[in-house]
Amino acid sequence: MNRICEMLGIRYPIFLGGMAHVSRAPLVAAVSAAGGLGIIGSGGMSPEDLREEISAVRRKTDTVFGVNLLLLDPYIDEQVNVVLSEHVPVVTTGAGNPAKYMECFAKAGIKILPVVPAVALARRMERAGADGIIAEGTEAGGHVGEVTTIVLVPQIVDAVSVPVVAAGGIADGRGFAAAIMLGAEGVQMGTRFLASVEAPVHDNFKNAILAANERSTRVTGRSFGAPVRTIANQMTKRFVNYEKEGRSFEEFEDLAVGGLQRAVYEGDVTSGSLMAGQIAGLIAETRPVEAIIKEMITTANKLLREGAL
Ligand SMILES: Cc1cc2nc3c(=O)[nH]c(=O)nc-3n(C[C@H](O)[C@H](O)[C@H](O)COP(=O)(O)O)c2cc1C
Repeated sequence: MNRICEMLGIRYPIFLGGMAHVSRAPLVAAVSAAGGLGIIGSGGMSPEDLREEISAVRRKTDTVFGVNLLLLDPYIDEQVNVVLSEHVPVVTTGAGNPAKYMECFAKAGIKILPVVPAVALARRMERAGADGIIAEGTEAGGHVGEVTTIVLVPQIVDAVSVPVVAAGGIADGRGFAAAIMLGAEGVQMGTRFLASVEAPVHDNFKNAILAANERSTRVTGRSFGAPVRTIANQMTKRFVNYEKEGRSFEEFEDLAVGGLQRAVYEGDVTSGSLMAGQIAGLIAETRPVEAIIKEMITTANKLLREGAL
């Protein structure tokens, strides 16, 4: 049996990326109810809001779900306490090194899978007690590293013995099968689920993904050590200007997060931050979560069975 499914008690090894402001109860519950792992994006949530979001997921489904913690979040310690007291079964982490929280998660029986962009960090995370690694390539939406998924995944698979989940650039059964061939035991998707029927995201943002091609995204913020991939618009120009003007990392982060909220809630596609991955070019229609997952399983199974040359 697939180690990710066995460890987490889920039917299909397909994760919803924990996207700040996007991976909220309606989407999280839809992915978990369809057999995948829905993950709440807690970035920017107060501890009270996170507790309420967890309850909202539990009201919609009794299946397994997770919480993504952004390690740079000002509320991080309080959010960790909420996750512990609510007995959330799975945690993923972004933007940093979660080593200091690993022991308390392990003691509480919470499975932890850090998102990592490089082999050395994957090794460190395994040594610190990670139950699995989410290897995220630079083609992903949001905060990204430098290495592509096809290059990163097999190298992390060889470097660690815990199961690896591939993220970045996967949106259908072909990408799922490719990730399995690289040695991953599951996949995490952000952009594909953002453009789903259930995503609580303004239609303008979803339509910008449908209209995008493979060259529509830009990475800004490298000079701050915080590269972010978004669909190019006036906001990306502002990001570039911030870099030229030598603004601080905090100013850049405020602009990025405030911009994401404008895109998600108000549909501001001009000066909002349209975080999305390069695979947006493949996505031609918004689809229900269940249909997305069914296609992935059917196509991947077919390709993996027929894969011999
Ligand atoms: C709008 C958006 C917001 C995101 N926010 C977060 C976040 O808060 N924490 C995190 O670990 N990853 C975040 N990500 C990354 C996703 O969880 C996921 O790993 C990534 O989208 C996978 O690549 P894909 O977009 O090519 O599917 C975000 C991605 C997007 C598109």
